[in-house]
Amino acid sequence: MGFAPQWLALREPADRAARDTALLARAAHLAGPAPVIVDLGAGTGASVRALGGHLPDAARWRLVDNDAALLALAVANHPNAQACQLDLNHLSDLPLDGATLVSASALLDLLSERWLRAFVDILVRHQLPFYAVLSYDGVMHWQPELPDDAGITAAFNRDQCTDKGFGPALGAASGHIARTLFEQAGYYVMLAQTPWVLTQQDARLQAELLDGIAGAAARAGHGGAPAWNAARQRLVSQGRCTVGHLDVLAVPTGRVALLDGHGCGNG
Ligand SMILES: C[S@@+](CC[C@H](N)C(=O)[O-])C[C@H]1O[C@@H](n2cnc3c(N)ncnc32)[C@H](O)[C@@H]1O
Repeated sequence: MGFAPQWLALREPADRAARDTALLARAAHLAGPAPVIVDLGAGTGASVRALGGHLPDAARWRLVDNDAALLALAVANHPNAQACQLDLNHLSDLPLDGATLVSASALLDLLSERWLRAFVDILVRHQLPFYAVLSYDGVMHWQPELPDDAGITAAFNRDQCTDKGFGPALGAASGHIARTLFEQAGYYVMLAQTPWVLTQQDARLQAELLDGIAGAAARAGHGGAPAWNAARQRLVSQGRCTVGHLDVLAVPTGRVALLDGHGCGNG
């Protein structure tokens, strides 16, 4: 499964606007005075751009992805970052030695429960915090509404649970399942709702998103997807669209004290 750099660039401003700023500040603080951050499914380095300004200059990044072309762009954007070309299915190869934070953006919903359970075990062994943002949560709304909106969303959500390279994907449940698994492992977990709210100003993103949603809904068996897409595309210049996401910050209990003064009341 490939992710076009053009699509990642198109969605990045909406991702930046949606990120929960309190969780971002806490994640940056947890990374410590000499951060070593391992970003999973790094793409072109969106996490470096979102977090970088909140970290000391000494911060070091290890960008993990299996797509060599995306990693080349990431390193061109961030020459000091280390590119780690790796299939995330090879969990034991993750470059976690000396890491202070593991992060991910727009990745959790692609993963399987089996993968996530094994990953949680590894993070527990290293006592590392995990900061995963912008996982799709299954909720989409449009203004003005169309009769097929709910059916298309349901079909899209079914497609989101098909195998994205890790076994049956967690899809819309990923944020809550991550919370459960990390809490069962004794972590303190904070969750924040971080929806995209797209307006006429995001017409290009809306248009591409609609093509993607309609394609996925059609794959999941919704026969009306092309007509719904055509009707929705005609409304892009006047419509508004909300796409739900969750940000998750999971903290080993031994490091929760570090959050003093960074508010631990969220939940
Ligand atoms: C939705 S993109 C998110 C990219 C980036 N984090 C961002 O927010 O712009 C998912 C990323 O996961 C990577 N990816 C997907 N499957 C992977 C795998 N099996 N191993 C390593 N990386 C993978 C893709 O190449 C892509 O860069």
